[in-house]
Amino acid sequence: MDFSATRALFDLPDGICYLDGNSLGPQPRAAASAAARALGEWQGQLIGGWNGAGWMDLPVALGAAIAPLIGAAPDTVVVGETLSIRVHQALMAALDLRPERTEIVTDSGNFPSDIYIAAEIARRRGLTLRVVAPDAVETALGPQTAVLMLTEVDYRTARRHDMARLSARAHEVGALALWDLAHSAGAVPLDLAGAGADFAVGCTYKYLNGGPGSPAFLHAAPGLIEAVTPALPGWLGHAAPFGFDMDYAPAPGVARMRIGTPPVLQMAALQGALTVWKGLSMTEVFATAQGLAQRLIDGVAARAPALRLASPEDPARRGSHLAFAHPEAQAIMRAFIARGLVGDFRAPDIVRLALTPLYIGPADIDRALDIIAEVMTSRAWEDPAFAASAGPVT
Ligand SMILES: Cc1ncc(COP(=O)(O)O)c(C=O)c1O
Repeated sequence: MDFSATRALFDLPDGICYLDGNSLGPQPRAAASAAARALGEWQGQLIGGWNGAGWMDLPVALGAAIAPLIGAAPDTVVVGETLSIRVHQALMAALDLRPERTEIVTDSGNFPSDIYIAAEIARRRGLTLRVVAPDAVETALGPQTAVLMLTEVDYRTARRHDMARLSARAHEVGALALWDLAHSAGAVPLDLAGAGADFAVGCTYKYLNGGPGSPAFLHAAPGLIEAVTPALPGWLGHAAPFGFDMDYAPAPGVARMRIGTPPVLQMAALQGALTVWKGLSMTEVFATAQGLAQRLIDGVAARAPALRLASPEDPARRGSHLAFAHPEAQAIMRAFIARGLVGDFRAPDIVRLALTPLYIGPADIDRALDIIAEVMTSRAWEDPAFAASAGPVT
């Protein structure tokens, strides 16, 4: 597949080699025009925009647009809130479906927000949160496990869990499987339906390019959600929100996981951003990303060997970013950014770079390698301007 056409769909600043890994996708031109259109609707339609411009339906419409990108049925995904809130909602729902059980199992590769939320829920409910090593997850599952809660692609190393195998193993012991797809959606081919995920959540500001603060999604397997009373029963998750009934009655399906007023301007930007995926195959996006990753791995090994690959070597076992470890990773990333190569630093020692074929090609990797080699050979990162005291890196 030729991705030169998709690159033209993005508005990237000149002179920047954007391998951010991936905290924020760049701006699709269609996101900007969709956001401008929504501003115009607000100006012209005022309150009438909720129905006249379809604002009220955006959470469900966006869910249907994201569903094919994650291998889910259209009516099993809803958009809105932040990912942290979605983690809370999905975990509470899953725990309610296994009331007799006492444990949540997760791993040390999970994102801090997920772990903090699970720990607090466990504390309030008198449950045990077991945080085990990523390769010990399978053996940690047992008859007391209520929920297996994992982030599929590790935000630091890109190590990818086997969703189908671990979900099946969770089901074997009678538990439910909840997957955080923050670093998966738009990065790797996903088949939630085939993999047997019970719940999944993810953000849209990374590989889905919805913009800073773009809302999150929640997926519930068909059939499961009808038994869930949401832990946050907001009025827009009610079956008849404008009946203003004093008693809560959940909306049919996953729409019950809506809470309150949707962020229309962000959602409009996301709606535009999602149009760039039209006609693309995730399998080809991922295969191309892995070709770019290999080019970067080989180049770094040859020209900057002090940066040690901290991601799995096998492309089948990792997501769409690469982690390189170095004790001075923070200063090194600052030196890269000063030269136009934008990536992330992740404490304590990770340089993180994402391979995103929609807007990154082989020439960008070669330019990145020139910058990496120059910085590492000249030890430019030793410049005091790049020291930790200079403030946070992305
Ligand atoms: C895996 C994972 N889960 C949860 C979060 C938290 O997302 P949010 O800040 O949108 O709530 C992040 C943020 O990067 C993440 O990477």
